[in-house]
Amino acid sequence: MSYLANSERYSKMKYNRCGNSGLRLPALSLGLWHNFGGVDTYENGKNMVLGAFDLGITHFDLANNYGPPAGSAEETFGKILNSDLKQYRDELIISSKAGYYMWPGPYGDMGSKKYLVASLDQSLKRMGLDYVDIFYSHRPDPNTPMEETMGALDLLVRQGKALYVGISSYNLEQTREAAKILKRLGTPCTIHQPSYSMTNRWIEGDLQNLFTQEGIGSIAFCPLAQGVLTDKYLNGIPKDSRAASKTGALQENQVSQEVVNKVKALNEIAKSRGQSMAQMALSWNLREDRLTSVIIGASKVSQIEENVKALDNLEFSFEELEKIDKILE
Ligand SMILES: NC(=O)c1ccc[n+]([C@@H]2O[C@H](COP(=O)([O-])OP(=O)(O)OC[C@H]3O[C@@H](n4cnc5c(N)ncnc54)[C@H](OP(=O)(O)O)[C@@H]3O)[C@@H](O)[C@H]2O)c1
Repeated sequence: MSYLANSERYSKMKYNRCGNSGLRLPALSLGLWHNFGGVDTYENGKNMVLGAFDLGITHFDLANNYGPPAGSAEETFGKILNSDLKQYRDELIISSKAGYYMWPGPYGDMGSKKYLVASLDQSLKRMGLDYVDIFYSHRPDPNTPMEETMGALDLLVRQGKALYVGISSYNLEQTREAAKILKRLGTPCTIHQPSYSMTNRWIEGDLQNLFTQEGIGSIAFCPLAQGVLTDKYLNGIPKDSRAASKTGALQENQVSQEVVNKVKALNEIAKSRGQSMAQMALSWNLREDRLTSVIIGASKVSQIEENVKALDNLEFSFEELEKIDKILE
């Protein structure tokens, strides 16, 4: 039977304006970095995408290299779009990126115009799309003039292949320069995608202030530190976890006893707030509307259902914030 989206899907999700743009993104977005590749079970990926959409998650974040193998997450997403989400295309914000290694030779990596333009064409083919909603430069390229990388983003918008553009993992100076060039070209920098979580706060201060000053939206990746900021590892490393997986980016040594002890202490605060550890970590990222959205990853639908409930409690008392900081000191 063909998929029919939940008619209540817009009743609970919060939608935040992305910087100064007209685009509103769900407070929680779904990323397809892990668990949607050719090595993964298609039905599980499909259930997660459709389950997320049923919960009001309208934004799906991809990149050319997601898999493994690279490119296969876009193929999986294209298949789901084609079989179940075609009629909902105008309710979806689909992003892709280019910046990491994709094909051999000098034109398959980093930030040249040659690579970005060719890569987006490949991504569109894999997903069966005419355009993506957001296209990112996935990382800064020190060997390509910023003018060229931003010029490629501007070109792709003018060609109608992307509606909005963004940058990922650019530092303060790089963001300032990129935003200035894009503004001059007439294609604003709509969004920045940095890593950000309780345990990874590099954007706080100057970079977040720049987002506000320049009207750039922000969407955090790895808000759960790849699963470490959940209750998953409190009693060892489960077999079905990313840390135990051969294809996962999380190494077992990143889940040290020292880290686990901290998460145990954080988990007590979460309990006192009536939240799971994952929910508190996501609420913390979204506190005081500091970000437009967080991109969660998931390996099963139940995690997405649990995580969306973070929105039920986004307020933190001063004491709670202080306790969290003290634990993570
Ligand atoms: N721009 C960039 O350079 C960049 C880099 C990295 C990621 N990203 C984007 O950010 C997205 C999210 O990254 P991420 O997957 O690392 O995010 P994350 O949300 O920090 O971690 C997700 C993982 O945590 C575990 N998890 C999630 N909810 C849970 C829950 N309620 N209870 C227990 N465990 C839970 C799952 O792992 P298990 O498999 O262990 O269950 C899940 O796959 C990516 O898909 C991608 O779109 C972008």
